[in-house]
Amino acid sequence: EIPMTFAGRVLAGLVMMSGIGIFALWAGILASGFSEETRRQDFVRKWQLVSAVPLFQQLGAGSMVEIVRALRPRVVPAGTLVCRKGDSGDQMYFIVDGTVRVETPDPVDLGPGHFFGEMAIVTGAPRNASVKAATEVSLLCLYAADFQLLSGSNPEIAEVIRKTAMERREAHRN
Ligand code: CMP
Repeated sequence: EIPMTFAGRVLAGLVMMSGIGIFALWAGILASGFSEETRRQDFVRKWQLVSAVPLFQQLGAGSMVEIVRALRPRVVPAGTLVCRKGDSGDQMYFIVDGTVRVETPDPVDLGPGHFFGEMAIVTGAPRNASVKAATEVSLLCLYAADFQLLSGSNPEIAEVIRKTAMERREAHRN
């Protein structure tokens, strides 16, 4: 039946438009549900990565949430130059999986649970050595600004990182 009267046509038009509106509403609800779910999965996945680093295993849930939010996962292929000697550095890295080689005169290999790039963050000095991925490496990156925030809420962790930076710096004096 085609509406013949003016009122009938207006009514039919309104019904059609509300149909489109309801479709858009459902599409919106589904899309935001999906993105929420994806974010939750990303958070859980990151939580698993962070739990693999011993330094973070002593933390309570509150600190863990803060650190999981601050760390950025990054996977680099073997051979990637992660830090270049002499560059300025604004992040440090925790190794979840794989091995990096610190290209000091006596090269040092660092594996899962270790961290590097902390010297530039702690002292503000340029990168002290180049660091190259010896295998494919799964990293968690922490920006200097987030390290500062973290030192406020988790002084024990910041202390371990500072102490390591000082020890490594001493190693270069010999
Ligand atoms: P950074 O100077 O920011 O960048 C290079 C990194 O190599 C440095 O921080 C340390 O994390 C790491 N590094 C330098 N020297 C040593 C060392 N002797 N042993 C282990 N790691 C080191």
